[in-house]
Amino acid sequence: MEKFIRVTGAAVPLLRSNIDTDVVIRINRLIGHRRGELGPFAFEAWRYHPDGSENPDFALNQPKYRSARILVAGDNFGCGSSREAAAWALIDFGFRCVIAPSFGDIFAMNCFQNGVLCIPLPKETVEGIAAELESVADPQVTVDLETRTITTPAGALVGFDIDREQRQALLEGLDEIGLTLKLADKIDTFRRKDRLDHPWIYRSEETEHMQRVLILAGDGIGREVLAEVRRVAEWFRDKRDLRIDLREELFGLSAWERHGTLMREETWQEILASDAILFGAIGSPNYDKIPAEARKVDQLLRIRRELDLFTNLRPVRTFKALADTSTLRPEVIEGCDMMIVRELCGGIYFGTPRGIERLPDGSERAVNTTIYTTAEIQRIARSAFELARVRQGRLCSVDKANVLVETGGLWRKIVQELHDREYPDVELSHMYVDNCAMQIVRNPKQFDVMVMENLFGDIISDCAAMVAGSLGMLPSASIGPVRSNGKQHALYEPIHGSAPDIAGKGIANPLGAILSFALCLRYSLKQPQEAERLERAVEGAIAKGARTADIATAGMRAMSTREMGDAVCAELATN
Ligand code: NAI
Ligand code: MG
Repeated sequence: MEKFIRVTGAAVPLLRSNIDTDVVIRINRLIGHRRGELGPFAFEAWRYHPDGSENPDFALNQPKYRSARILVAGDNFGCGSSREAAAWALIDFGFRCVIAPSFGDIFAMNCFQNGVLCIPLPKETVEGIAAELESVADPQVTVDLETRTITTPAGALVGFDIDREQRQALLEGLDEIGLTLKLADKIDTFRRKDRLDHPWIYRSEETEHMQRVLILAGDGIGREVLAEVRRVAEWFRDKRDLRIDLREELFGLSAWERHGTLMREETWQEILASDAILFGAIGSPNYDKIPAEARKVDQLLRIRRELDLFTNLRPVRTFKALADTSTLRPEVIEGCDMMIVRELCGGIYFGTPRGIERLPDGSERAVNTTIYTTAEIQRIARSAFELARVRQGRLCSVDKANVLVETGGLWRKIVQELHDREYPDVELSHMYVDNCAMQIVRNPKQFDVMVMENLFGDIISDCAAMVAGSLGMLPSASIGPVRSNGKQHALYEPIHGSAPDIAGKGIANPLGAILSFALCLRYSLKQPQEAERLERAVEGAIAKGARTADIATAGMRAMSTREMGDAVCAELATN
């Protein structure tokens, strides 16, 4: 943009009110004529007769104004349509400045953006200048932006005001972007401070640090499927510039064999420092060989509880190509897409009292306790309502309020109250868990988001696995509350276990674990497009016939865990 410091030249009076941008430049001239070519068409309705000849009465056609650089106009100049081309047409004609009692707002902004100075002056002052221009032979005017003065042909000085920043920008020839760039240092300082003061407003990809992603493969097939997840994560890191710092720690039996403990203190510190954990599975018949004392604490439950990973998300989608690997009929499951939200830190898995006592007659009595508080129900219900809002807007809350009138009744009441108070836009229904188990196999397509307590979620989601074709296909995410540093702990794992029956054979399906990494991309690493890229790659591999034994139908070759990883990586490389 050309700088505006001082302009001297002829000024032309055009004292009509409400000169429209369509008079400055007609809309039809903008088809076929570009910026830089619009000068001949400025004010054309007034400059020319219908036959194309010049109108000698129009001011701009009079010899003394022909090369005018300053326009002196009536009030509300540049009203009408917001076209930026009006400013271009003035520039192309040769104008650099317009003086008028008032301007159309957008027109004035467009002029400023293009280096044309608009000066508002009282109506009498404008009329005085116009009268002087008409009375002299040489209508020379100087507009000086540095001194903020206009010098009339007779030598009179007229002062004017202009916004300080606009003046600076015009003097330096900066448009809005240029102006903003000049402030880059200040903006940067502000953002640095603001990020420290209000970390929760900033998306984590804006933080300078790498995200720490910890792999805990665990036992059995966990180690086999996580090896493929690792390759996929490395692909995103190396090929898509995903800013992750991948670490790995032994967990479970392999940690016992190497270090004599199921989880070292160092591993626990890594867990606490991680932004996301990629987990395999835990469990093996070989735990019997470990002293009871060493395996007293379930290390996975410990992670869930201590990181407060209360929201467990289990998306269940049917892959089209897998519709006939399920024991359910294809037409029942095709197109199914639901999200099970399971409460993960409360209920019977953690409630006390719990234990087994020996009765006087020598038999035993075992106790587990289901406990839920208002706050626990509210926070998991809130997670579910929020998800329903960005999905199809439907939430089914599952309980057993007819028999477990205490925990189930409180659950139902709190969910309903939260709905009425904060989420009336979400369509809420309630269902008993026994009916829910039946509905999932009868007509799974009726569900969008479902929310339920810990125990029910465990059972119902295994049941829903058949909707996806196989247990090996299902991912999960377990997410904690937002912490004071703005981050959330999260753990991503396939919903299957360590599958001792097939462990070590290299035939486990790694897709549930790989799709869990897609959830990690979406929820922890805030890369929804990369998440979709990975989900598409899985879908593509399946569509091309990639099958592990658990999802292969008769006549299809079953591939190894490794080959399935290869198939996904090959798809990633091509899309
Ligand atoms: P499981 O999920 O390990 O296996 C159930 C059946 O599904 C088995 O026949 C297995 O071969 C098959 N299967 C599971 N995942 C598969 C995959 N990716 N590809 C192909 N087939 C697959 O459940 P199960 O047998 O009840 O438990 C085995 C062990 O896993 C137990 O010690 C249990 O406590 C533990 N477990 C651990 C979990 C975790 O770490 N989050 C979750 C569930 C069970
Ligand atoms: Mg389960």
